[in-house]
Amino acid sequence: MPGLSVSLDEVSGRHPAARQDAPNAISDLSLQIAAGEQVAVIGPSGAGKTTLLQLVGAALKPNSGSVRVGDVNVWQLSSSVIQKLRGRFFYAPQVPPLPPRQRVVTALLAGRLPSLSLAQTLAQLIYPRDVGPAQAALESFDLADKLWHRVDRLSGGERQRVGLARGLVSPAELWLIDEPLSALDPTRARQAIQALITEAKRRGVTLIVTLHQVDVARQNFPRIIGLRDGALAFDLPSAAVTQEKLSVLYAQHEHELTELAPPAIDIAPPPEPAKIVHCR
Ligand SMILES: Nc1ncnc2c1ncn2[C@@H]1O[C@H](COP(=O)(O)OP(=O)(O)O)[C@@H](O)[C@H]1O
Ligand SMILES: [Mg+2]
Repeated sequence: MPGLSVSLDEVSGRHPAARQDAPNAISDLSLQIAAGEQVAVIGPSGAGKTTLLQLVGAALKPNSGSVRVGDVNVWQLSSSVIQKLRGRFFYAPQVPPLPPRQRVVTALLAGRLPSLSLAQTLAQLIYPRDVGPAQAALESFDLADKLWHRVDRLSGGERQRVGLARGLVSPAELWLIDEPLSALDPTRARQAIQALITEAKRRGVTLIVTLHQVDVARQNFPRIIGLRDGALAFDLPSAAVTQEKLSVLYAQHEHELTELAPPAIDIAPPPEPAKIVHCR
């Protein structure tokens, strides 16, 4: 399966949660990523990494500039065609959207849905069959025994890895992954990033990952983009990302550069909806 190329031309956009009058989180940013490339995006908190992924993934409309994915100019398409295009992306937010009470198998097979018909979709969600790809994806993240577990009974790190395993089950040609390691210890983090890279290379999909861990980025990705204040600070082969460049990128944020591991974020699933109690 060929990956999708990405081309941003002078793109500006606000954070998805920002007010209409808020300043742009990404400003006049131009960037080309070839089909099948693996790229890490690093930079201090607030640099615009999440906003950038959302712009690339057609989840967020830019205020100006153009976003091209593959051979199309995204925001010149009709909304139904954009919706179809999003079905060719796998976007993994930092907090995986795993509904409580769902079983891991169902959460994973939902990743295949864009490629299934409505009847197949319903059948798959009600009675999961063909669990082979889901099982294989879990094995890549050392979660082989979790297929039939409920997602809300997993640890935060296990949930985060299930969120990543979804990509391996999906038919997507562009993987956009936002800080995938925030709830993982260093060993699990390396294992998870290697699983993603190995599988992306094998399939030829394009992989863009934002990372808090600079060393993981340098050791595993051929190309690193440094983002600061919504603009490119550098875009270099990883061997050219020197300590000096990192010091400039993280100036006034040195603690983020020297942290061995980021603070574990709470990625507990959302609370279950309140039960409706009928009173007589
Ligand atoms: N919830 C929010 N509401 C409004 N503005 C936000 C919010 N989160 C972030 N921003 C703004 O968007 C900028 C970029 O944020 P983000 O894309 O999340 O950066 P990163 O992922 O690099 O931490 C921030 O510097 C801030 O100005
Ligand atoms: Mg972010």
